Amino acid sequence: MREDIIAYMIVSLPGGWQGINTLHLYLSNFLSEYFCLNEIIILGIESSCDDTAAAVFLKGKILSNVVAGQEVHKAYGGVVPEWASRAHQKNIVPVVHQALKSANIDKSELTAIAFTKGPGLLGSLLVGVSFAKAMALGLNIPLLEVNHLQAHILAHFIKGNGRQGTGDGKEKEFPGFPFLCLTVSGGHTQIVLVKDHLEMEVIGRTIDDAAGEAFDKAAKIIGLPYPGGPLIDKVAAGGNALAFEFPHPKIASYDYSFSGIKTAFLYFIRDNIKKEPDFINMNKSDICASIQKTIVDVLLNKLIAAACDTGIKDIAIAGGVAANSHLRSELESLKKTQGWHIYIPARKYCTDNAAMIAIAGYYKYLKGAFADQSVSAEARYPF
Ligand code: KG4
Ligand code: ZN
Repeated sequence: MREDIIAYMIVSLPGGWQGINTLHLYLSNFLSEYFCLNEIIILGIESSCDDTAAAVFLKGKILSNVVAGQEVHKAYGGVVPEWASRAHQKNIVPVVHQALKSANIDKSELTAIAFTKGPGLLGSLLVGVSFAKAMALGLNIPLLEVNHLQAHILAHFIKGNGRQGTGDGKEKEFPGFPFLCLTVSGGHTQIVLVKDHLEMEVIGRTIDDAAGEAFDKAAKIIGLPYPGGPLIDKVAAGGNALAFEFPHPKIASYDYSFSGIKTAFLYFIRDNIKKEPDFINMNKSDICASIQKTIVDVLLNKLIAAACDTGIKDIAIAGGVAANSHLRSELESLKKTQGWHIYIPARKYCTDNAAMIAIAGYYKYLKGAFADQSVSAEARYPF
């Protein structure tokens, strides 16, 4: 910049040449804040259900993302809460150790620890909460409590996460506020109006089963192991989605219901097996494709209604079911037909992970929203 321009700017400052001190102070504050914020290193810990996870976050990027699943539940056709908390106890130390090691970060370098406070299984949550509290106390660093469902949505702000696209072919890195997020997991199904990183309103929710539960229960009915969602997705790949029809629920507003679909599916399989004992094996891919299409159609019809009514075009999906191939491809088509800007997370950030907890903790850190040592887990934790 030319010296005369700098001189003009300084003279134009309130206080003339004396204003240089103000400018210096302003610049040094800005720079120290900027570099300080960029050096924030957050350890995220997730233990709300059956995945023990830890991740390290620095400068908007995830340095490591370690997830230990729990095979023990497969034999039971669903998560056994007591087994889950025992497995978390066994896994948490090695998982955190591995996350720090892969990130090449020493625990003494951590700025803060973020953990899932809820919602989730109480016994599982307690393991992560207690571990985070003890570690933060030992290191004398702040604690950040995170809502698991908000974290699923905030995963969209991880740099380099997933696919974004717009109907007009332009790419945006992150969704713009306000946006709508369809959060679909094993325990929750919600349409969320996201006004800011930490300001969210649930405008639609399931009144009974979650979408992931519907996938898992349908899978169980046809003899697939838990969690059945990914398996239905896989088997459906070669099937005809129009082979069988299942009823859609008639629920007002943006709310969902999946228990009727599950019952209809159960009776459909029972009745067909009576006629042909090998019905499932003979039609497995068509059955999977048809039930998958039903669940996805139900999810998207309400999302389309919410988008039309609110006029919002930035549309995101989150949660384990967001990994579903059919949901993802249908959303790609809606991008064109509805002119939506769509945000589809990478699969590793759809299912439970601690990277999303770490980034949610980062936004809490920026607001100075720290938790103290009296914090505890909450199985039901609305936002
Ligand atoms: O978010 P998540 O990992 O855990 C919860 O917070 O619940 O979601 C798990 C759910 C399970 O019901 C699982 O079957 C489902 O997400 N899921 C899928 C797929 N991948 C995971 N459902 C359908 N298709 C998939 N590809
Ligand atoms: Zn989840």
